[in-house]
Amino acid sequence: MSSVIHFQNVSHKFKNHTILNDVTLQIKDTEKVSIIGPAACGKSVLIKIACGLIVPDQGTVSLFDTPLNQCSETELTDLRKDIGMLFQSGALFDFMSTADNVAFPLRQQAILSEDIIAKKVSERLDAVGLGSSSALPISALSGGMQRRVGIARAGIALPKLVIYDEPSAGLDPVTTSKIYDLLSNDQKEHLNTVIVISSDIESLQKFTDRMIMPYHGDIIYDGSSDKIFDCKNPIVHQFIRGETQGPL
Ligand SMILES: Nc1ncnc2c1ncn2[C@@H]1O[C@H](COP(=O)(O)OP(=O)(O)OP(=O)(O)O)[C@@H](O)[C@H]1O
Ligand SMILES: [Mg+2]
Repeated sequence: MSSVIHFQNVSHKFKNHTILNDVTLQIKDTEKVSIIGPAACGKSVLIKIACGLIVPDQGTVSLFDTPLNQCSETELTDLRKDIGMLFQSGALFDFMSTADNVAFPLRQQAILSEDIIAKKVSERLDAVGLGSSSALPISALSGGMQRRVGIARAGIALPKLVIYDEPSAGLDPVTTSKIYDLLSNDQKEHLNTVIVISSDIESLQKFTDRMIMPYHGDIIYDGSSDKIFDCKNPIVHQFIRGETQGPL
Protein backbone atom coordinates (compact mmCIF):
# COMPACT_ATOMS: atom_id res chain seq x y z
CA MET A 1 0.00 0.00 0.00
CA SER A 2 1.36 3.41 -0.86
CA SER A 3 1.72 6.17 1.66
CA VAL A 4 -0.86 8.94 1.76
CA ILE A 5 0.57 10.95 4.65
CA HIS A 6 4.05 10.47 6.02
CA PHE A 7 5.49 12.55 8.88
CA GLN A 8 9.18 12.05 9.53
CA ASN A 9 10.48 13.57 12.76
CA VAL A 10 7.98 16.42 12.60
CA SER A 11 8.00 19.07 15.33
CA HIS A 12 5.83 22.15 15.63
CA LYS A 13 5.06 24.65 18.35
CA PHE A 14 3.16 27.90 18.66
CA LYS A 15 5.20 30.11 21.00
CA ASN A 16 5.70 27.79 23.98
CA HIS A 17 2.85 25.44 23.14
CA THR A 18 4.29 22.24 21.68
CA ILE A 19 1.89 20.60 19.24
CA LEU A 20 4.15 17.89 17.80
CA ASN A 21 7.53 16.84 19.15
CA ASP A 22 9.58 14.68 16.79
CA VAL A 23 6.59 12.73 15.50
CA THR A 24 6.98 10.02 12.88
CA LEU A 25 3.70 8.74 11.52
CA GLN A 26 2.39 7.13 8.37
CA ILE A 27 -1.14 6.80 7.00
CA LYS A 28 -1.49 4.47 4.06
CA ASP A 29 -3.81 4.14 1.12
CA THR A 30 -7.37 2.97 1.99
CA GLU A 31 -6.90 3.34 5.76
CA LYS A 32 -9.76 4.63 7.92
CA VAL A 33 -8.23 6.60 10.75
CA SER A 34 -9.60 8.71 13.55
CA ILE A 35 -7.77 11.45 15.37
CA ILE A 36 -8.99 11.93 18.89
CA GLY A 37 -8.00 13.91 21.94
CA PRO A 38 -8.99 16.72 24.26
CA ALA A 39 -9.73 20.25 23.02
CA ALA A 40 -6.66 22.11 21.77
CA CYS A 41 -4.40 19.03 21.81
CA GLY A 42 -3.50 19.65 18.17
CA LYS A 43 -5.87 17.51 16.09
CA SER A 44 -6.77 20.19 13.56
CA VAL A 45 -3.19 21.47 13.39
CA LEU A 46 -1.96 17.94 12.69
CA ILE A 47 -4.15 17.61 9.61
CA LYS A 48 -3.38 21.16 8.47
CA ILE A 49 0.32 20.23 8.62
CA ALA A 50 -0.45 17.08 6.63
CA CYS A 51 -2.12 19.14 3.88
CA GLY A 52 0.62 21.77 3.79
CA LEU A 53 -1.63 24.48 5.22
CA ILE A 54 0.78 24.87 8.16
CA VAL A 55 4.51 24.37 7.61
CA PRO A 56 6.06 22.61 10.61
CA ASP A 57 9.15 23.98 12.38
CA GLN A 58 11.08 20.76 11.72
CA GLY A 59 10.82 17.45 9.91
CA THR A 60 9.52 16.22 6.59
CA VAL A 61 5.88 15.88 5.61
CA SER A 62 5.02 13.89 2.49
CA LEU A 63 1.61 13.80 0.87
CA PHE A 64 0.99 11.01 -1.67
CA ASP A 65 4.73 10.24 -1.48
CA THR A 66 5.65 13.82 -2.40
CA PRO A 67 7.73 15.77 0.17
CA LEU A 68 5.87 19.06 0.67
CA ASN A 69 9.00 21.06 1.39
CA GLN A 70 10.13 20.38 -2.19
CA CYS A 71 6.82 21.44 -3.77
CA SER A 72 6.11 24.68 -5.56
CA GLU A 73 2.76 26.39 -4.82
CA THR A 74 1.40 24.98 -8.11
CA GLU A 75 2.48 21.44 -7.24
CA LEU A 76 0.92 21.81 -3.80
CA THR A 77 -2.35 23.02 -5.35
CA ASP A 78 -2.30 19.99 -7.67
CA LEU A 79 -1.73 17.59 -4.75
CA ARG A 80 -4.60 19.17 -2.83
CA LYS A 81 -6.98 18.42 -5.70
CA ASP A 82 -6.91 14.83 -4.44
CA ILE A 83 -8.05 15.89 -0.96
CA GLY A 84 -11.61 16.54 0.17
CA MET A 85 -11.90 18.38 3.42
CA LEU A 86 -14.55 19.30 5.92
CA PHE A 87 -12.99 22.13 7.90
CA GLN A 88 -14.02 22.50 11.51
CA SER A 89 -14.94 26.11 10.72
CA GLY A 90 -17.13 24.99 7.81
CA ALA A 91 -15.32 27.15 5.25
CA LEU A 92 -18.36 27.32 2.98
CA PHE A 93 -18.80 30.02 0.34
CA ASP A 94 -21.42 32.39 1.76
CA PHE A 95 -22.09 34.00 -1.61
CA MET A 96 -23.13 30.68 -3.22
CA SER A 97 -26.26 28.58 -2.81
CA THR A 98 -26.18 25.28 -0.94
CA ALA A 99 -26.14 23.32 -4.22
CA ASP A 100 -23.37 25.46 -5.71
CA ASN A 101 -21.21 24.90 -2.62
CA VAL A 102 -21.57 21.13 -2.99
CA ALA A 103 -20.99 21.31 -6.76
CA PHE A 104 -17.82 23.37 -6.36
CA PRO A 105 -15.22 20.52 -6.34
CA LEU A 106 -16.85 18.91 -9.41
CA ARG A 107 -16.90 22.20 -11.33
CA GLN A 108 -13.24 22.69 -10.45
CA GLN A 109 -12.43 19.30 -11.96
CA ALA A 110 -14.20 20.43 -15.15
CA ILE A 111 -14.84 16.83 -16.25
CA LEU A 112 -18.59 16.34 -15.87
CA SER A 113 -21.46 18.06 -17.63
CA GLU A 114 -23.75 20.37 -15.65
CA ASP A 115 -26.58 17.80 -15.92
CA ILE A 116 -24.49 15.10 -14.26
CA ILE A 117 -23.18 17.54 -11.65
CA ALA A 118 -26.77 18.53 -10.78
CA LYS A 119 -27.70 14.85 -10.38
CA LYS A 120 -24.71 14.10 -8.15
CA VAL A 121 -25.31 17.19 -6.02
CA SER A 122 -28.93 16.23 -5.58
CA GLU A 123 -28.00 12.65 -4.50
CA ARG A 124 -25.39 13.98 -2.10
CA LEU A 125 -27.73 16.52 -0.53
CA ASP A 126 -30.38 13.81 -0.12
CA ALA A 127 -27.81 11.60 1.62
CA VAL A 128 -27.15 14.28 4.24
CA GLY A 129 -30.86 15.08 4.61
CA LEU A 130 -30.75 18.42 2.80
CA GLY A 131 -32.56 17.51 -0.40
CA SER A 132 -35.07 20.32 -0.02
CA SER A 133 -32.53 23.00 0.86
CA SER A 134 -30.46 23.03 -2.31
CA ALA A 135 -31.53 26.48 -3.47
CA LEU A 136 -31.08 28.15 -0.09
CA PRO A 137 -28.20 30.52 0.57
CA ILE A 138 -25.72 29.33 3.20
CA SER A 139 -26.84 32.15 5.52
CA ALA A 140 -30.33 30.58 5.68
CA LEU A 141 -28.98 27.30 7.09
CA SER A 142 -28.50 26.35 10.73
CA GLY A 143 -25.04 25.45 12.03
CA GLY A 144 -25.75 21.72 11.79
CA MET A 145 -27.13 22.11 8.25
CA GLN A 146 -24.00 24.00 7.22
CA ARG A 147 -21.87 21.18 8.61
CA ARG A 148 -23.83 18.71 6.50
CA VAL A 149 -23.24 20.85 3.40
CA GLY A 150 -19.52 20.69 4.19
CA ILE A 151 -19.74 16.90 4.52
CA ALA A 152 -21.61 16.60 1.21
CA ARG A 153 -18.99 18.77 -0.46
CA ALA A 154 -15.92 17.05 1.01
CA GLY A 155 -16.59 13.66 -0.57
CA ILE A 156 -18.42 14.53 -3.78
CA ALA A 157 -15.43 14.51 -6.14
CA LEU A 158 -14.25 11.12 -4.83
CA PRO A 159 -10.92 12.45 -3.55
CA LYS A 160 -8.11 9.99 -2.78
CA LEU A 161 -7.99 11.39 0.75
CA VAL A 162 -10.96 12.82 2.58
CA ILE A 163 -10.65 14.50 5.94
CA TYR A 164 -13.60 15.31 8.16
CA ASP A 165 -12.82 17.65 11.06
CA GLU A 166 -15.66 17.15 13.57
CA PRO A 167 -18.36 15.85 11.17
CA SER A 168 -20.89 15.18 13.92
CA ALA A 169 -20.47 18.36 15.98
CA GLY A 170 -23.89 19.88 16.53
CA LEU A 171 -25.73 16.97 14.89
CA ASP A 172 -28.39 14.84 16.56
CA PRO A 173 -27.71 11.09 17.00
CA VAL A 174 -29.92 9.99 14.09
CA THR A 175 -28.31 12.45 11.67
CA THR A 176 -24.90 11.42 12.98
CA SER A 177 -25.65 7.78 12.12
CA LYS A 178 -26.77 8.81 8.62
CA ILE A 179 -23.56 10.78 8.12
CA TYR A 180 -21.40 7.83 9.18
CA ASP A 181 -23.41 5.59 6.82
CA LEU A 182 -22.60 7.97 3.99
CA LEU A 183 -18.89 8.04 4.91
CA SER A 184 -18.87 4.28 5.17
CA ASN A 185 -20.62 3.72 1.81
CA ASP A 186 -18.28 6.18 0.10
CA GLN A 187 -15.27 4.40 1.52
CA LYS A 188 -16.50 0.93 0.58
CA GLU A 189 -17.26 2.06 -2.96
CA HIS A 190 -14.13 4.08 -3.66
CA LEU A 191 -11.59 2.64 -1.22
CA ASN A 192 -10.24 6.08 -0.45
CA THR A 193 -8.32 7.05 2.66
CA VAL A 194 -10.49 8.66 5.33
CA ILE A 195 -9.44 10.63 8.39
CA VAL A 196 -12.07 11.67 10.91
CA ILE A 197 -11.48 14.00 13.83
CA SER A 198 -14.15 13.57 16.45
CA SER A 199 -14.85 12.82 20.10
CA ASP A 200 -17.69 10.47 19.26
CA ILE A 201 -15.72 7.36 20.24
CA GLU A 202 -18.63 4.97 19.66
CA SER A 203 -19.18 6.06 16.04
CA LEU A 204 -15.44 6.16 15.43
CA GLN A 205 -15.02 2.62 16.69
CA LYS A 206 -17.64 1.45 14.22
CA PHE A 207 -16.25 3.37 11.27
CA THR A 208 -12.46 3.58 11.66
CA ASP A 209 -9.86 0.84 12.11
CA ARG A 210 -7.14 2.94 13.64
CA MET A 211 -7.06 5.70 16.25
CA ILE A 212 -4.37 8.28 16.79
CA MET A 213 -4.25 10.53 19.84
CA PRO A 214 -1.83 13.47 19.95
CA TYR A 215 -1.19 14.99 23.34
CA HIS A 216 1.41 17.52 24.48
CA GLY A 217 3.54 16.86 21.43
CA ASP A 218 3.54 13.06 21.52
CA ILE A 219 1.30 10.49 19.89
CA ILE A 220 0.11 8.73 23.03
CA TYR A 221 -2.09 6.21 21.21
CA ASP A 222 -1.68 4.85 17.70
CA GLY A 223 -3.38 1.52 17.34
CA SER A 224 -6.50 -0.36 16.52
CA SER A 225 -9.86 1.24 17.29
CA ASP A 226 -11.03 -2.06 18.79
CA LYS A 227 -8.26 -2.20 21.37
CA ILE A 228 -8.27 1.39 22.59
CA PHE A 229 -10.32 0.44 25.67
CA ASP A 230 -7.44 -1.87 26.67
CA CYS A 231 -4.94 1.00 26.58
CA LYS A 232 -3.26 1.52 29.94
CA ASN A 233 -2.12 5.09 29.34
CA PRO A 234 -4.06 7.02 32.04
CA ILE A 235 -4.79 9.98 29.72
CA VAL A 236 -6.16 7.75 26.96
CA HIS A 237 -8.05 5.73 29.57
CA GLN A 238 -9.75 8.81 31.04
CA PHE A 239 -10.41 10.54 27.72
CA ILE A 240 -12.21 7.69 25.96
CA ARG A 241 -14.40 7.02 28.98
CA GLY A 242 -15.16 10.69 29.61
CA GLU A 243 -14.25 10.35 33.28
CA THR A 244 -13.90 13.46 35.38
CA GLN A 245 -11.26 11.99 37.69
CA GLY A 246 -7.77 11.49 36.30
CA PRO A 247 -4.79 13.30 34.84
CA LEU A 248 -6.83 15.38 32.35
N1 LIG B 1 -2.34 29.52 13.60
C1 LIG B 1 -2.17 29.38 14.92
N2 LIG B 1 -1.41 30.24 15.63
C2 LIG B 1 -1.22 30.09 16.96
N3 LIG B 1 -1.74 29.07 17.69
C3 LIG B 1 -2.50 28.19 17.03
C4 LIG B 1 -2.77 28.29 15.63
N4 LIG B 1 -3.54 27.26 15.26
C5 LIG B 1 -3.78 26.54 16.38
N5 LIG B 1 -3.15 27.11 17.43
C6 LIG B 1 -3.16 26.58 18.80
O1 LIG B 1 -2.71 25.24 18.74
C7 LIG B 1 -3.44 24.45 19.70
C8 LIG B 1 -4.04 23.26 19.00
O2 LIG B 1 -5.06 23.72 18.12
P1 LIG B 1 -6.01 22.73 17.31
O3 LIG B 1 -6.92 23.60 16.52
O4 LIG B 1 -5.18 21.75 16.58
O5 LIG B 1 -6.77 22.01 18.48
P2 LIG B 1 -7.79 20.78 18.37
O6 LIG B 1 -7.16 19.60 19.01
O7 LIG B 1 -8.27 20.67 16.98
O8 LIG B 1 -8.95 21.30 19.35
P3 LIG B 1 -10.57 21.25 19.21
O9 LIG B 1 -10.99 19.89 19.68
O10 LIG B 1 -11.02 22.32 20.14
O11 LIG B 1 -10.91 21.51 17.78
C9 LIG B 1 -4.44 25.39 20.35
O12 LIG B 1 -3.94 25.82 21.59
C10 LIG B 1 -4.55 26.55 19.38
O13 LIG B 1 -4.81 27.77 20.05
MG1 LIG C 1 -9.97 21.11 16.02
